[in-house]
Amino acid sequence: MRAHEAGALHGDLGSTGPSWLRTPDDVNALVPQLWPKTVKRGATGAIEVGSVNIRKIAEEHGTPAYVFDEADFRSRCRAFKEAFGGAEVFYAGKAFIATHIVRILVEEGLSLDVCTGGELAVALRGGMPPERIGLHGNNKSVAELTRAVEAGVGRIIVDSFDEIDRLSAIARRTATRPKVMVRVTVGVEAHTHEYIATAHEDQKFGFSLSGGAAAEAVDRILAEDVLDLRGLHSHIGSQIFDTSGFEVSARRLLSLQAAVHDKHGIELPELDLGGGFGIAYTTQDTPAEPADLATNLMRIVKQECAALQLSVPHLSIEPGRAIVGPAMFTLYEVGTVKDVDGIRTYVSVDGGMSDNIRTALYDAAYSATVAGRTSTEPPILARVVGKHCEAGDIIVKDEFLPADVQAGDLLAVPGTGAYCRSMASNYNHVPRPPVVAVVDGESRVIVRRETEDDLLKLDVG
Ligand code: LLP
Repeated sequence: MRAHEAGALHGDLGSTGPSWLRTPDDVNALVPQLWPKTVKRGATGAIEVGSVNIRKIAEEHGTPAYVFDEADFRSRCRAFKEAFGGAEVFYAGKAFIATHIVRILVEEGLSLDVCTGGELAVALRGGMPPERIGLHGNNKSVAELTRAVEAGVGRIIVDSFDEIDRLSAIARRTATRPKVMVRVTVGVEAHTHEYIATAHEDQKFGFSLSGGAAAEAVDRILAEDVLDLRGLHSHIGSQIFDTSGFEVSARRLLSLQAAVHDKHGIELPELDLGGGFGIAYTTQDTPAEPADLATNLMRIVKQECAALQLSVPHLSIEPGRAIVGPAMFTLYEVGTVKDVDGIRTYVSVDGGMSDNIRTALYDAAYSATVAGRTSTEPPILARVVGKHCEAGDIIVKDEFLPADVQAGDLLAVPGTGAYCRSMASNYNHVPRPPVVAVVDGESRVIVRRETEDDLLKLDVG
């Protein structure tokens, strides 16, 4: 079912939920792949994260709140770093960025991909060495490019001919030689469980490979002494579960690498395969481990290079969701519970589409659990909705919750670390929730809750 502006379509009312959703044997059980690693139910039945009881977090910090399991996040940083060995791992800041996150990335030895001046500002304030920052974007402004060049960012991923001209002018003016990569549109579009490899690309990002624009971008950059061309880049999509799309992408990128070698006699030293590695939002998702992704991607690149008689370039990747997505969950308090004509139970919480737009925007599936206690009641099919003035304000479309779910219950939705806080809005003048980091028995606010005052200050009359 798809949501539309006027609210949910009504065609499937009366259903027992989607076919993949099983009635749980134990409605209190936490499905491990959905939750940050330190989350478990404690002796009281309330969930604990980093050894802190969720009730205590709610009391201290209020709801709704994004709860960030720092140990989990660090372990995913390490897993990618170790799995990809010599390759450079650029965390994609668009998934979620804050200075505390940047400090952790620095400590864990990751690099950082940003795509606006705003994200660049957080990266620099958080202490990321500029040479470990990459700047993306299909419409970077002169101001953003200048700032990046002056800060000495490690690479700018060039996305248009306009940008080549713009960047060359900035390089001349500032007497610098920025390192750049070419964003190539390889004609591979990956979705959750499948990918489509097409001959052409109809999208705003990158230079088309099949149309020859990518080769021309390489030519033009090589003709500019002030630009240092490091390599080719491709990002094929998001929430991808297998490596077949990356395989086609790598093969196509390396065919351009070979053409550049033939024409210009140079081997570009770097290659970036982008991000997009999938995570589990519900029991239907089975993400690959970083180690398996790494083995496959590195094998593909090595094989292709051998076949084309090229040396293997220094590889980099840009995972965002796979590192931060599972490390956070959103904690809400239930406000009202409504049984609608025996069809389903609507559980309204104190947040909504302003803190998680993904359900309304992408038809994304999430799960939820009553977090402050266990229940001995049987499971009922519920829909978790927000407090916004919109019928399509749905957070979790279908989930089994205990039949006694009631006002005052704490409810947690896992897998909200990526693209929830970063895409949050102030719809209906709802202030955005804080991000609370929990580690080793301590909780600490890393992004504070917005206040009505914050919002009123913007309104200058
Ligand atoms: N690199 C580039 C060039 C990208 O454009 C993206 C995501 C990434 C890396 C990171 O992708 P990840 O590993 O996080 O999937 N708002 C959407 C996702 C948009 C992703 C845009 N680019 C969502 O909520 O699903």
